[in-house]
Amino acid sequence: MTAARKIRIREVGPRDGFQSWPEFVPTERKLEVIRLLVEAGVQEMETTSFVSPKAIPQMRDAAEVLAGVPRTGCIHSPLVPNLKGATLALDSGADKLVVVISASDAHNVANVRRTINESLSDLRAIFELARQRGKPVVGAMAVAFGCPYQGDVPEDDVYRLADAYISGGAASVVLADTTGMATPPRVIRLVNGFARRFPATPYALHFHNNRGTAMANLYAALEAGADTFDAALGGIGGCPNVPQAAGNLATEDVVYMLEDMGWDTGIDLMKLITAALRLEAILGQTLFGQVMKSGPRDPKLAAAVCRTCH
Ligand code: COA
Ligand code: ZN
Repeated sequence: MTAARKIRIREVGPRDGFQSWPEFVPTERKLEVIRLLVEAGVQEMETTSFVSPKAIPQMRDAAEVLAGVPRTGCIHSPLVPNLKGATLALDSGADKLVVVISASDAHNVANVRRTINESLSDLRAIFELARQRGKPVVGAMAVAFGCPYQGDVPEDDVYRLADAYISGGAASVVLADTTGMATPPRVIRLVNGFARRFPATPYALHFHNNRGTAMANLYAALEAGADTFDAALGGIGGCPNVPQAAGNLATEDVVYMLEDMGWDTGIDLMKLITAALRLEAILGQTLFGQVMKSGPRDPKLAAAVCRTCH
């Protein structure tokens, strides 16, 4: 028997999900969910973000969160929008930094109150600081598949920003469909274009489900050769500046599909579902995930999850 091929999943719920939840989720509850995720086998996570507490009050406990997480088995990569965030994150014990810049000026201004060029001018200092501390930097690109203010984003703008990240020293890049505007042909074009231009740089895809296309987009990216995906427990998540009816791809939905297709995610689906159900209880609202409602394929395990459909 050949070993299953490996897929990497970057769990983004604790950052992308808790940042956009209308109420502040208490630090202890955030840490409980993070512990359940690590116990389920999550190996890399956007654990929190070091951003202005005035801009995103939900993330005001970033340092406490990072101080309380399990330090083994999982890489903790907080998101940072500027040098101040990078400094705070590294001082608080981040394993890796996720820098974020949007592929359109309009979204970058809405998100971090700077043009792309202004954000780029901070980048050199962030890379230098991370290098001194021996920590890798991920270059995340918001609205790479379309911008809620500008509409289409030219692919060349995506490649230009990717080039700035990679020539600055980014270890990898995340191409994010921040507001769920991608469709499979756009994904295939961008994944192929990126891989052709930057063959040595690992990349991840980050899909939101605002228009119901996220899982189709993931499948398209997979077929085009992508092997790293962002997902959020229960499907929570979203951009604080944009209204939405759905969040990220749910981690448990992604793990269910990929494992059934023969990929190895290293994550225990039942433990993940248990974590999603606990998250739902903590947040007090039905979440977007589907597998947390229907359960896995094994009828006995499914019956344990889904009491109404058996
Ligand atoms: N962490 C904590 N505080 C920060 C900070 C950071 N990374 N960056 C700035 N601040 C503080 C400043 O110290 C200053 O505090 P003060 O008013 O007490 O003096 C205040 O925030 C304003 O600083 P300034 O540099 O003028 O920032 P700004 O008001 O222009 O906002 C950002 C720019 C980037 C800090 C803000 O828009 C932000 O945090 N955005 C994050 C958005 C986000 O997380 N989106 C979702 C993820 S993609
Ligand atoms: Zn997102």
